[in-house]
Amino acid sequence: MGRLDLDTVVKIETESYEFPWLRRTFEDCLTASYECWIGELLGREEPDEIIGHGILNVKADEAHLLNICVKKQSQGYGFGRDIVGYLIDRSKAQRAKTMFLEVRRSNGIARELYDSVGFRQIGIRKGYYPALEGREDGLVLALSLDGE
Ligand SMILES: CC(C)(COP(=O)(O)OP(=O)(O)OC[C@H]1O[C@@H](n2cnc3c(N)ncnc32)[C@H](O)[C@@H]1OP(=O)(O)O)[C@@H](O)C(=O)NCCC(=O)NCCS
Repeated sequence: MGRLDLDTVVKIETESYEFPWLRRTFEDCLTASYECWIGELLGREEPDEIIGHGILNVKADEAHLLNICVKKQSQGYGFGRDIVGYLIDRSKAQRAKTMFLEVRRSNGIARELYDSVGFRQIGIRKGYYPALEGREDGLVLALSLDGE
């Protein structure tokens, strides 16, 4: 992801989340040299169509998956699984031992995806997320990357 991608990234983010990240947050991640990736569908459009994004911060032996998002019309075709797999590979390449993330309790699709690649719940952050009515718990998930 580069700054020139941000118009599209922010559009995808805004259409896919009820509480999307602001453009400023993506800019901060780029400035901080976090791993900021876009997924592109090659060849169907010129320039290649951006179909989603993933943001990862790897520090010492921990990787934190901060955001993963697939364009609304492209969801359900395996792209989310591809992006998660890619971010897991990037974490391993940087010798992270554990990958962490937070997910809304109500986000069944994301939870299903994370569960299927081996993430397990290690904690709950009560009222971590804003919700349409009040607050919602965040589940803290971890994936051991050791020995793989
Ligand atoms: C969560 C998200 C990234 C998944 O990406 P996706 O491309 O739609 O998902 P995939 O097609 O790769 O499917 C991966 C798995 O998710 C689950 N899944 C996907 N669509 C589903 C649906 N409609 N119902 C139930 N489970 C579903 C399945 O386990 C699926 O695996 P399978 O196809 O092998 O059964 C995407 O839905 C998204 O961007 N959502 C909005 C942003 C978001 O919630 N991000 C996660 C924040 S923690």
